[in-house]
Amino acid sequence: MAKDKTVYSCTECGGTSPKWLGKCPSCGAWNTLIEAVAETAAPAAKNRFASLAAAQPVTTLADIDAADFERLPTGLDELDRVLGGGMVEGGVVLIGGDPGIGKSTLLLQALHQLSLTVPTLYVTGEESGAQVALRSRRLGLDGSQVRVLAEISVEKILATIEAERPTVCVIDSIQTVYSEQLTSAPGSVAQVRECAAQLTRTAKATGVTVVLVGHVTKEGALAGPRVLEHMVDTVLYFEGDTHSNFRLIRAIKNRFGAVNEIGVFAMTERGLKGVSNPSAIFLSQHAEPVPGSCVMVTLEGTRPMLVEIQALVDSGGPSPRRLSVGLDRDRLAMLLAVLHRHAGVACMDQDVFVNAVGGVRISEPAADLAVMLSISSSLRGKALPKGFLAFGEVGLAGEVRPAPRGQDRLKEAAKLGFSVAVVPKANAPKASHLKTHAKDFEGLTIHAVERIEEAMEVVRGLA
Ligand code: TYD
Ligand code: MG
Repeated sequence: MAKDKTVYSCTECGGTSPKWLGKCPSCGAWNTLIEAVAETAAPAAKNRFASLAAAQPVTTLADIDAADFERLPTGLDELDRVLGGGMVEGGVVLIGGDPGIGKSTLLLQALHQLSLTVPTLYVTGEESGAQVALRSRRLGLDGSQVRVLAEISVEKILATIEAERPTVCVIDSIQTVYSEQLTSAPGSVAQVRECAAQLTRTAKATGVTVVLVGHVTKEGALAGPRVLEHMVDTVLYFEGDTHSNFRLIRAIKNRFGAVNEIGVFAMTERGLKGVSNPSAIFLSQHAEPVPGSCVMVTLEGTRPMLVEIQALVDSGGPSPRRLSVGLDRDRLAMLLAVLHRHAGVACMDQDVFVNAVGGVRISEPAADLAVMLSISSSLRGKALPKGFLAFGEVGLAGEVRPAPRGQDRLKEAAKLGFSVAVVPKANAPKASHLKTHAKDFEGLTIHAVERIEEAMEVVRGLA
């Protein structure tokens, strides 16, 4: 096949150059030229006369029939939850995640389930057909009807999709696929973008659901899936510590559903198993309460989840370290300052480490109160009482601000047998509500606080 002409275009200003240069000749930015397929002259000529084309009919929004998307459930409930109910016809889903986290495993399991009712195609560029078969045997998917293609040329893959017409097609991974129209290596930004664009066009034209697998690389030298996020309908990220068994799938973008919904899986001998009640898995098992540990309820999408926050405060050197795992480090520095100014807890010359147990990442500020209580608990060497939990945002003035959907969080804690909660005043149920819904909060004593020093006071009173 004759190579089409390519040009190098600048990602900053859009300027082009016939050959690669370190510096963009148009805007002077460094290292921004990326190979792209040259636009042929024909469409440009057409555009010039675009104004001479006939006007097209326009519809009023209210008159357009808004049929809901038909969903195709994958049979894995946790995956369906993040997808917003299942795959959508012609939808393009990108699944990103570190190597070895379980993307291929999950998708093979999902395709197998789907293949019981519809035709499916698994395109593998990383493993041979035999390796995929071996994995499927290990997963216990005997007699699977999933069709497998080991190919990395996007032109051949597209031709196969046209011929096979699967309902769902998985490309594992987009970094291994290349287009013959470009000279750059597979995995480069230009190749990844071009191949994804071609696959997306095919998905929209044929109604095939395409799932792209993308590796996230630490240094970003290879094109990470980030360059694709705007092209696809749904972006899912696979997270979790490869050392622990739990994996979270998070929706970052979803044109067909809610974002920030998560699916929880456990990696087992026989692949990934959905965890339908994940609330308690992020608590470590202490027989007796230990200093520096505080449980909080975080909200992931629509689900409340209990997570243990651990802190270790230890005397440091001349420049003490502040480290956080699963929590924002800048926020930790801020909370330490608030703790000092408003609650009189000084950690100036101490190393402070905080950790969200189980490899979860908590981005919401509702973790503040639990972080601060665990730090002061570690500093004093005094454990918080058994069955204790706290949540709430803490502001720079020392005020404790409400967290969204506080009642749901409290209900979840009560359900799991927690007995004492320190929460922002606005999140505590009103006396009248408590009377009518006493059952929801059974066994849970709720302390409403407005300021961080008040929260400290309550904790001291409990000990
Ligand atoms: P894999 O799906 O190959 O990861 P990715 O495609 O994201 O790179 O999963 C790899 C890990 O999962 C591997 O280290 C082995 C583990 N694994 C299990 O623990 N149980 C299983 O049944 C399978 C198939 C894999
Ligand atoms: Mg893989």
